[in-house]
Amino acid sequence: MTRVAVVTGGSRGIGAAVAVEFGRLGYAVVVNYHSRRAAADAVVDAVAQAGGQGLAIAGDMRVPGDAARLVRAATESFGRIDTLVCNAATPIKQAAFADMPWEDFAAKLTGELGAAYHVTQLALPVMRKQRYGRLVFVSSGQAERPGAPGMIAHGSAKAALNTFTRYLAVEEGPHGITANVVAPGYVHTDASAAVGTEEFEAVIAARTPLRRVAEPIDIGRVIALVGGENSGFATGIVVPVDGGITLAP
Ligand SMILES: NC(=O)c1ccc[n+]([C@@H]2O[C@H](COP(=O)([O-])OP(=O)(O)OC[C@H]3O[C@@H](n4cnc5c(N)ncnc54)[C@H](OP(=O)(O)O)[C@@H]3O)[C@@H](O)[C@H]2O)c1
Repeated sequence: MTRVAVVTGGSRGIGAAVAVEFGRLGYAVVVNYHSRRAAADAVVDAVAQAGGQGLAIAGDMRVPGDAARLVRAATESFGRIDTLVCNAATPIKQAAFADMPWEDFAAKLTGELGAAYHVTQLALPVMRKQRYGRLVFVSSGQAERPGAPGMIAHGSAKAALNTFTRYLAVEEGPHGITANVVAPGYVHTDASAAVGTEEFEAVIAARTPLRRVAEPIDIGRVIALVGGENSGFATGIVVPVDGGITLAP
């Protein structure tokens, strides 16, 4: 039997690294993307080169109908969904609370949670039928610890995602389904490019016990571990992948 992984926001950054890592493990990987078809196609090729099979599916994960199309594509093409990685990077409004309009704060909360909620609710019946499933939600260290300025909406949304995951772990455990969070610190991707100057990365690296910033594959490998077959008795946990920066003085 070929295991099947669905990765939202799989066309770039952390999601692309996860997809290729699952390909290396021999999975069939459904690579969801928002608008960059060519990037998603390149990931599908990389998945195949790594030893798996890939399929690119467009969709805005904040939209229930798009999430339904993604789940349908996975089951119609590959017959099952073993692992769902909710990774899509919904837009961030960066502002201090004093300057944050409610509409922008609410849009981040509903975008972040909606992008996890819809696809998870639709994938769960498939996983329950299999009596096997691995849900992995990509959160952030900023859920627990205010980091960069202006990230109150992002941090609050990711904190809600962590709690959402714990409830899922309790409710879905009896069906053979695990739910876990992977929480990166700063990662060198397009999403972080706005702040990620060379100087900024040098500061982060110097404060990090492992003395470098993360590349997407550092996070992708841990997601594949948490979302893989061998993690069957780990559920409801938040796994930080940050080079130890939260421990540093
Ligand atoms: N980078 C960091 O420092 C960092 C740190 C902690 C946590 N994270 C989290 O890690 C995850 C991935 O971030 P990243 O840095 O890898 O982002 P990225 O490189 O900017 O890639 C974003 C991905 O999300 C997709 N996407 C955007 N909006 C979407 C939507 N509404 N529905 C479906 N897909 C959508 C994009 O598709 P297109 O290519 O089609 O645009 C792309 O595949 C996010 O949840 C982010 O919050 C990132």
